Amino acid sequence: MTSDIRPQPGIMEISPYQGGEAQLPGQSEPIKLSSNENPFGPGDRAIEAFRRTAHQLHRYPNTDHASLRRAIAEIHGLDAARVICGAGSDEIITFLCQAYAGPGDEVIHTEHGFLMYRISALAAGATPVEVHERDRTTDVDALLAACTPRTRLVFIANPNNPTGTMIGANELGRLASGLPAQALLVLDGAYAEYVDGYDAGLALIEARDNVVMTRTFSKIYGLGGLRIGWGYGPAAVIEVLNRVRGPFNLSTTQLETAEAAMRHRAHSDWCRSENARLRVWLSHALAEHGVPSDVSMSNFVLARFASQGEAEACDLHLKSQGLIVRRVAGYKLPHCLRITVGDEAACRRVAHAVAQFKGRQ
Ligand SMILES: Cc1ncc(COP(=O)(O)O)c(C=O)c1O
Repeated sequence: MTSDIRPQPGIMEISPYQGGEAQLPGQSEPIKLSSNENPFGPGDRAIEAFRRTAHQLHRYPNTDHASLRRAIAEIHGLDAARVICGAGSDEIITFLCQAYAGPGDEVIHTEHGFLMYRISALAAGATPVEVHERDRTTDVDALLAACTPRTRLVFIANPNNPTGTMIGANELGRLASGLPAQALLVLDGAYAEYVDGYDAGLALIEARDNVVMTRTFSKIYGLGGLRIGWGYGPAAVIEVLNRVRGPFNLSTTQLETAEAAMRHRAHSDWCRSENARLRVWLSHALAEHGVPSDVSMSNFVLARFASQGEAEACDLHLKSQGLIVRRVAGYKLPHCLRITVGDEAACRRVAHAVAQFKGRQ
């Protein structure tokens, strides 16, 4: 090996992303509540579409994603020409950093923001800038104060992961209109479908030229394993992102399954209402056992403990009961555990195990 072979600046600063744990030694069927997956999975129409594509595996997929983009546009009332699809919304985040940020540029994200913003910024050679939150909630004034002439992208997830909190339309508008002229606001709407009546920033995108959104099929559509996401924004931005997108970045299986999932609205509506019901139930049950959480607008609850030690001890107890949740020290929340809202049986098991844990202390 020669030391002249070196990666680009920034790459060695990346700490590889750690996914949620999925296995527990000695537990044959643990309940995984560590990756904000939909516990109900995709609906039967998505599964049928997935199966139907099996006989086309020797064919390259189409490159323009026209049918999926049309479905997304119809369902959300968008212009299909300004939709871009990717291998998860992660890929859209990567395209944004690749296309708009490089050495010498700054990419802003919030203190407890999704880790892929930092990773993608560093991979593009740009400098990630972390901005503090107020009570685990995006702070627009702090974001605006952090902008400089080098700011190229500002990422916020709304609702945010792992806090579950969100800011309203007025605050989003204030953020978009206060950014410097060279900066693009990225509204990550991975959990937007869980919020009744939220347009995920669509009105803002239509009114301005400096806002884009990223969305996913991994959450409410139950397709995290298949990797499909999309983005929407001004024509000029989408045109740029399409230049860095590989022509065959999505397979026929991904495209057709995603379309069937999105068109099967009865299933996603049911998932939304079950999630809302069980999220309230779970957060109340945890609070009754002395574990508070912020009001979550998402498909998980961020449970707060008195200390990092207590959070870790509770995590170990949950594991001993076959329950895998997520430690979030990497998100600067070492005293918290993020618990995905599972099905009713899973929520009851979590509440029971937390009660046992608290009772033992
Ligand atoms: C806020 C946020 N954005 C983006 C993603 C990535 O989702 P995808 O599966 O579409 O890549 C996640 C996944 O958990 C997320 O929490």
